[in-house]
Amino acid sequence: MKPSNLLPLCSLIVLSSAAATPRLSSRRPSSHKLLHTPPSFVAHPGKSAFTSSTSTTQSSRAGVHLSSHPDDTTHLITSIDAFFTIPHANMPTVGPTAGNENGVYQVSYWVGIDGLSACPQASIRAGVDTFWDSGMQTTNVWYEFYPSTGPTDFANMTLKQGDTIQVLVNADADGKGGSVEIRKYETSQPRVSAVWTHEFKDQGSQLCLKEANWVIEDYPLVDRPEFLLPFANFTDDAGVPEVYFYGMHVNPPGAKGGVLPWAWTEFDVEVIDINLEEQGGKLTDCKTETGAGNSNTLTCKRIVGDA
Ligand SMILES: *[C@@H]1O[C@H](CO)[C@@H](O)[C@H](O)[C@H]1NC(C)=O
Ligand SMILES: *[C@@H]1O[C@H](CO)[C@@H](O)[C@H](O)[C@H]1NC(C)=O
Repeated sequence: MKPSNLLPLCSLIVLSSAAATPRLSSRRPSSHKLLHTPPSFVAHPGKSAFTSSTSTTQSSRAGVHLSSHPDDTTHLITSIDAFFTIPHANMPTVGPTAGNENGVYQVSYWVGIDGLSACPQASIRAGVDTFWDSGMQTTNVWYEFYPSTGPTDFANMTLKQGDTIQVLVNADADGKGGSVEIRKYETSQPRVSAVWTHEFKDQGSQLCLKEANWVIEDYPLVDRPEFLLPFANFTDDAGVPEVYFYGMHVNPPGAKGGVLPWAWTEFDVEVIDINLEEQGGKLTDCKTETGAGNSNTLTCKRIVGDA
């Protein structure tokens, strides 16, 4: 038998005489800290596929990865964005990780430039971690300027599951710095926005401006790096188990360095899914579609195996 790298569910069990806790969505940040390892992933064989392949490679990451062609010096990626409503993290009710009423389940969502196959040395990312922790739903907001600044909480920005946000990641045209911004939307107006900027000081950690990533990820906790937390079920406000990113642009107009949104057809587009044998196999089913004005959408359904 292969050693399992899934955190044994029993190790998180807290003895409790209480019956199933009602679902509560809290604005209080989570006390759980995830190990946001640098993005670098195993290269996938995908080409210009707008739906994910049926590859069975183990992967803790889902979403869409855009990269410019190796000899393309025109389509530099200096600004990317996306809107999404933060799904509700829930305890799975089917699959091998289902039904641990006193356990912790997790899903993270992030947007970032570089850090993957073509440019592993530097990246800028921002995202949210969502937890279902014995019935309590908590959310952390973070950014990272890798390798200069590890994942850092967005000071004074708290979000809860069900909030609609826009994540913007901007790089300087020379790749030596950038900024991240998260805007919280109520009706159509941004109500709260938090921005962090950073310059890469050390030589050698410069962005290549070649990759854009919109990701859903399963992470381990900082103090248990060898075990992935069980991946939560996630549902939209209507209870549908999926997350929907929209208004996904590469270099949107008005953004720093933005000229026009680059059409996605200028890039290699690769859709990836989470596939973890211990947790039941394929855990997401992602698909991206072209929208208006060179924007795209990404829909990832939460599945177990092929169902
Ligand atoms: C996720 O929740 C939905 C809605 O309750 C349910 O239909 C689906 O089976 C759940 N999936 C998992 C993996 O628990
Ligand atoms: C965070 O604090 C700074 C400084 O006090 C303030 O300017 C900014 O508006 C705050 N942001 C949020 C999202 O509350």
